[in-house]
Amino acid sequence: MGAGRGGQHGTGAAQGGQTVGARGPQKDEGSVPGADTLEDAIAKVRERLARAGHVAVLTGAGMSAESGVPTFRGEDGLWRNHRAEDLATPEAFARDPKLVWEWYDWRRGLIAGCVPNPGHKALAGLEEREPGLTLVTQNVDGLHALAGSRDPVEMHGNIWKVRCTGCQRVSEDRRVPIPILPHCGVCGGVLRPHIVWFGEALDPGILERAFGAFEYADVALIVGTSGVVQPAASLAGIARRAGAFVVEVNPDAAGDAAAVDVALAGKAGEVLPRLVPD
Ligand code: APR
Repeated sequence: MGAGRGGQHGTGAAQGGQTVGARGPQKDEGSVPGADTLEDAIAKVRERLARAGHVAVLTGAGMSAESGVPTFRGEDGLWRNHRAEDLATPEAFARDPKLVWEWYDWRRGLIAGCVPNPGHKALAGLEEREPGLTLVTQNVDGLHALAGSRDPVEMHGNIWKVRCTGCQRVSEDRRVPIPILPHCGVCGGVLRPHIVWFGEALDPGILERAFGAFEYADVALIVGTSGVVQPAASLAGIARRAGAFVVEVNPDAAGDAAAVDVALAGKAGEVLPRLVPD
């Protein structure tokens, strides 16, 4: 399959999207008749969700922002002045595995203290009601599973898993701090994080599940992602072209993306529980 990551591909501009701010009513002619306030838009999305046979959800770093996990491209995305994009690469690991592991150890320590926020819980609740829901995440923090989502499709891997660079065995490792460098208990090879780094191919089985879910979705929710990393960034467009009703949840929602029907400009932890009330 060989779908590499790191492509700079936004969702693109188009007419017809609608942004509804979380800070109050905001008249904005859009593609959803009558949905001129956040309340109306939320009611409309809930109605679509209630009718949907298949729901596909894509989450990004913004999903976990309210849990305290730093986003990749926000102000808190730097570590010791290194950008995430410069550390999460096979080249960086080949050059300086200790530095890369120190960064992951720091991230693991941060994430170990994080708990799912009301947004994660709302998505787990939605899955209870919608057996045809597929949750695809770019996040590696494992918070969806902690919130009760049964089988999230983790496109970029999981920070609590390690893979041997020798025998390729994948195992769970929750040690914080992790001894640097960590070694494989089976063959003695150096372990690396079981994460898909920039420039690496995604697992074909995972890609198939993710693309299949968005192709067949009646409603697609795109939550907390900047939409710049491929192939996740194309999922909304695939769903929209196949006829899905596509909803974006992001405080910086632009509402003019080709792949979005409604953009709810608010935080995942505040908006999602309103889409999926108890
Ligand atoms: N709720 C919803 N969205 C939010 C919130 C919030 N509380 N806070 C921030 N956001 C939005 C930001 O506006 C931004 O659009 O989340 C998005 C986060 O963007 P990125 O940090 O670029 O994260 P993401 O899109 O997940 O990045 C994709 O890139 O570095 C790699 O592997 C890494 O999985 C990651 C991938």
